[in-house]
Amino acid sequence: MKGIVFTAFVQYVEDTFGDLIVEQMIAGCDLATDGAYTSVGTYDHGEIIQMVVELGRLSGRNVPDLVKGFGYTLFGTLVTGYPEVVNHVEDSFGLVATIDNHIHVEVRKLYPDADLPTFSHEFRGPDELHLLYESERGLADLAEGLLIACFEYFKEEIELQREDLSDGAGTRVAFNMRRVVN
Ligand code: HEM
Repeated sequence: MKGIVFTAFVQYVEDTFGDLIVEQMIAGCDLATDGAYTSVGTYDHGEIIQMVVELGRLSGRNVPDLVKGFGYTLFGTLVTGYPEVVNHVEDSFGLVATIDNHIHVEVRKLYPDADLPTFSHEFRGPDELHLLYESERGLADLAEGLLIACFEYFKEEIELQREDLSDGAGTRVAFNMRRVVN
């Protein structure tokens, strides 16, 4: 998993829970890196899982909510790092519809070793978009946080429904988005 995700995660924990929790979280895990990440590195995906589980223990919050909260802040980090992804779309549906055939394709060109999910989308009318998330890493909570931040970025009111098609594993999840038209 790319370093930008790790540095953004540690930053999220620091901003949300403070320095002490960051130290305790890292100390409570068995990390080959000792928690030292750079945005250009590539690290074992298992390290972020260990950290989020430890953060859940330390904070008393449930892991899915923590991952979702992290996804929400990660959207801002990604948009700051890659502003062009939001510049050529008009709204959140425009962005969501380009994740698989544009955004993640560009990510793959930059980082051939990136661990990316598969998305497929289908418009079910002008105000309804269906998105299918598939990834062996089971990070549908991360995807949900990213989507919610994306709706907010474009200042749109979108109803989001989620259906797990993988018996709760989060590896195959359908998201249905409906724009609230006032
Ligand atoms: C709402 C929009 C987006 C969604 C729902 C989304 C979803 C995800 C998810 C769930 C992952 C985790 C990997 C997995 O599940 O297998 C991921 C990884 C990633 N995404 Fe996206 N993404 C979005 C937008 C973006 C944008 C705007 C960028 C920046 C150009 C980006 C760059 C990346 C990168 C760098 C990774 C990490 C790859 C790795 O660690 O190897 N994504 N994305």
